[in-house]
Amino acid sequence: MMSQIIPEVTLNDGVTLPAIGFGTYSLNGNEGANAIKHAIDIGYRLIDSAYNYENEGTVGEAVRRSSVPREKLFITSKLPGRYQTYDKAVTTIQESLYRANLDYYDLYLIHWPNPKQDNYVEAWQALIDAKKWGFIRSIGVCNFLPEHIERLEKETGIKPSINQIELHPFFNQAEQRSWHEEHNIKTESWSPLARANAVLENETIKKIADRHHKTVSQVILRWHYQLGAIPIPKSASPARQLENISIFDFSLDETEMSMITGLTRPDGRINNQDPAIYEEF
Ligand SMILES: NC(=O)c1ccc[n+]([C@@H]2O[C@H](COP(=O)([O-])OP(=O)(O)OC[C@H]3O[C@@H](n4cnc5c(N)ncnc54)[C@H](OP(=O)(O)O)[C@@H]3O)[C@@H](O)[C@H]2O)c1
Repeated sequence: MMSQIIPEVTLNDGVTLPAIGFGTYSLNGNEGANAIKHAIDIGYRLIDSAYNYENEGTVGEAVRRSSVPREKLFITSKLPGRYQTYDKAVTTIQESLYRANLDYYDLYLIHWPNPKQDNYVEAWQALIDAKKWGFIRSIGVCNFLPEHIERLEKETGIKPSINQIELHPFFNQAEQRSWHEEHNIKTESWSPLARANAVLENETIKKIADRHHKTVSQVILRWHYQLGAIPIPKSASPARQLENISIFDFSLDETEMSMITGLTRPDGRINNQDPAIYEEF
């Protein structure tokens, strides 16, 4: 089977990961394991899971079904909001490992800041310690605003390697991305295809795609890559998995990049989940 060559990205802690990954939300059970195994077979190495997706076991199973050695893979999971106090966070990280039957995660993220609960600094301390104990190679966050990240650094001395945020052409996160760049934190893009909403029918992107003989999804994922963000598209379909990873044989020029970036709009989030107020447990 064809295997793609994917560029590498280096994080602020020296850990490296692929420039594109594979999302697993809603891939569960035997079918999910087969879909994830297929993604690994064709070249995906970065696999994004979460305790709350109830599929860490499925991801672990896919890893065992694949012929790629564990150390060549980059497996991510995430701490749910309901377990952010220190002791609960520590046992949840262990439970995440048991569910996947893995000895370590390459990346573990706090799933949402839930600022009203005010427990995310404790959760962060648990991630820092779990890294020291060898359970996790790199630690990061999702959906954190600059003020939340600043607090982590001020209170623990350690900043995240990655912030995984909602990012797609309808919500380009320009300010948050440049803040990450200034602070040497990598941006990872969740719902990079905006969950296949109207963005895939967008005429501007369609024209660019036709010019390059690529699909709209490929152009969008290439746009993420050229922004310096790491997209993690999910697909259950073998053909679309291959389509999504085949983005390293063309490039967008500056005009094309700004045309896509210019499609953003203030209400462009897919589910109106503003991390300043939205909470997830
Ligand atoms: N940290 C967070 O808070 C957070 C939140 C949301 C998501 N995530 C992570 O980010 C990952 C990706 O986000 P997502 O799953 O929400 O959305 P997404 O990757 O933007 O889109 C997935 C949807 O697009 C379809 N699709 C994929 N490739 C396509 C293509 N080439 N052409 C047409 N349709 C295509 C998929 O259908 P098929 O499967 O049928 O191809 C699926 O319906 C998740 O799986 C999860 O790992 C994290």
